[in-house]
Amino acid sequence: MTVPILQARSLAKSFHAIGGDLPAVAQMSFSVSPGEFLCIVGPSGCGKTTLLQMLAGLSPPSAGDVLLDGKTLAEPQRDISVVFQKPNLMPWRTVLENVLLPMQIFGLPYRRAEEKARLMLDKVGLEQFVDAYPNALSGGMEQRVAIARALVQNPRILLLDEPFGSLDALTREKLNLELLKLWRDQNITAVMVTHNIREAALMADRVLVLSPRPASISAEIPVNLPRPRVEDIEYTKAFTDLTFTIRKEIRD
Ligand SMILES: Nc1ncnc2c1ncn2[C@@H]1O[C@H](COP(=O)(O)OP(=O)(O)OP(=O)(O)O)[C@@H](O)[C@H]1O
Ligand SMILES: [Mg+2]
Repeated sequence: MTVPILQARSLAKSFHAIGGDLPAVAQMSFSVSPGEFLCIVGPSGCGKTTLLQMLAGLSPPSAGDVLLDGKTLAEPQRDISVVFQKPNLMPWRTVLENVLLPMQIFGLPYRRAEEKARLMLDKVGLEQFVDAYPNALSGGMEQRVAIARALVQNPRILLLDEPFGSLDALTREKLNLELLKLWRDQNITAVMVTHNIREAALMADRVLVLSPRPASISAEIPVNLPRPRVEDIEYTKAFTDLTFTIRKEIRD
């Protein structure tokens, strides 16, 4: 059995609210294997972002803990990068300068950092836009910059919070496949939260289905579709059967 890279152990979180505590995540335990692509799907408002922020070390759990390589995670780590729902680019910095930001925070020498940032921008197909400002980019391009920024520090784990939620279906599918290629090439472990069932089926090795708030795991569905996943996979019977199974688990 492989040793998990990331683990949630009886993880729970409540927020203080007027009129009492508001439970967002209830008693969740699961493991992520090195190199796995795990998708987490759940209804709107069930606690997905809250869960991801705990996995990133950005938000302390109310109970339980998150383990990275078997050790309790107490704060954000260089090994873990996050891509948020909104790209959160700094409008006054160019594309290259936005991607350089984590490297500057980690204090890498500028020349080496710039080399890595340019390489990452090549990989996400933005080599022509290194000197552009975010206001000159489309939504899909902004998300590509956010992905390059997350990957530039060579994380071992990439956490994604509905990164393509605001994009049209075609752009989304294109970025899904690009992300799968990066995941494979860079040899990373990915945990992606989404409420899009097709997206989860297309990307994942395994899907966790969450209950309505407070989120708990209501089903775990292995995905045995062949890799590399290609566009037309969505028209196969195996894919349709899988999305049906996930949808049914969410409904029940
Ligand atoms: N910082 C906070 N303070 C108080 N309550 C919060 C906070 N963050 C989230 N919540 C509450 O926790 C619950 C879960 O929120 P969360 O954002 O995790 O859900 P989600 O599944 O990501 O939703 P969505 O599908 O809309 O992205 C919600 O009821 C929300 O109001
Ligand atoms: Mg959310």
